[in-house]
Amino acid sequence: MTDLPMVVPAQELPPRVRIHEVGARDGLQNEKATVPTEVKAEFIRRLAAAGLTTIEATSFVHPKWVPQLADAEALFPQISGIEGVDLPVLVPNERGLDRALELGARRIAVFGSATETFSQKNLNRSVAESLTMFEPVIARAKAGKVHVRGYLSMCFGDPWEGAVPVHQVVGVAKALLDLGCDELSLGDTIGVATPGHVQALLAALNEAGVPTDALGVHFHDTYGQALSNTLAALQHGVTTVDASAGGLGGCPYAKSATGNLATEDLVWMLDGLGIETGVDLAELTATSVWLAEQLGRPSPSRTVRALSHQE
Ligand code: HMG
Ligand code: MG
Repeated sequence: MTDLPMVVPAQELPPRVRIHEVGARDGLQNEKATVPTEVKAEFIRRLAAAGLTTIEATSFVHPKWVPQLADAEALFPQISGIEGVDLPVLVPNERGLDRALELGARRIAVFGSATETFSQKNLNRSVAESLTMFEPVIARAKAGKVHVRGYLSMCFGDPWEGAVPVHQVVGVAKALLDLGCDELSLGDTIGVATPGHVQALLAALNEAGVPTDALGVHFHDTYGQALSNTLAALQHGVTTVDASAGGLGGCPYAKSATGNLATEDLVWMLDGLGIETGVDLAELTATSVWLAEQLGRPSPSRTVRALSHQE
């Protein structure tokens, strides 16, 4: 057993990747048992100590829709003082924005869908109505110099509608960017994408005038494709990759959404490729082992299991 991969760079890959850590939000929103606020705060502090610099902290959504994150008001002040770390939060509407701004959030993320069915299930609105809902949120955030990420879910497949045509994704992606999003995260919410599909979508977005540096990728690992899809995106020039410590995650409003790409699995690959992330793999793994103990079950991340000798 070895604790670090051998470093062998590959051609035409970026020298550095920014990991957008989503475990505390995408991961914990999906836990059956609500995690105590103090454990969430400790989790985020430990992620920061492991070198992650973008840590999505929580959501200011309706507490009845996602009760697991209903403690956002209690959590945010406990972590907002952590130095050198951006703490984006999910905000669906103006009510959510008010709550986030009240606590001093400097980065928000709106979240739209490439498909109508998921838009209805996740936001209780059509795609067009969701864009209308986001418009004042983004405008007010930008006026206050708050950074805005736009998530776009179901970019590859949808559990109710099946395969999602690339042009349909490009249309909503452009609309979100036109509203003023600073970056867009392309979500494979149910993990059905494969590498050629990823590159086809990225190329179509470029063709429609969207630069690659405005794009991040957000893969779920349902079919074991998340790392392959990430490599395909890196080959295309993407340098922002979403991942979840320990492979926590899913989406309460998308059946068959399982865990996100595990941050440890990602860092193992990027370390091996000699791509800088600033993340200390041993410290991150220890954090996921600690959180798994709090949750009462082992981490699904292969790298966490290998490094912590769980199997
Ligand atoms: P709605 O029921 O249509 O809400 O839900 P509404 O606008 O009709 O308002 C109803 C009441 O809720 C009002 O209260 C509002 O004030 C209140 P009343 O006047 O009746 O007393 N309300 C709120 N309260 C607190 N905070 C708020 C808020 N908004 C309204 N922000 C809504 C619409 C958008 C609120 C709801 O659908 C919702 O909260 N959805 C969130 C779903 C969610 O969080 N899903 C998971 C995140 S997305 C994801 O995981 C995918 C991602 O990871 C990428 C990928 O993998 O694809 C990002
Ligand atoms: Mg997700």
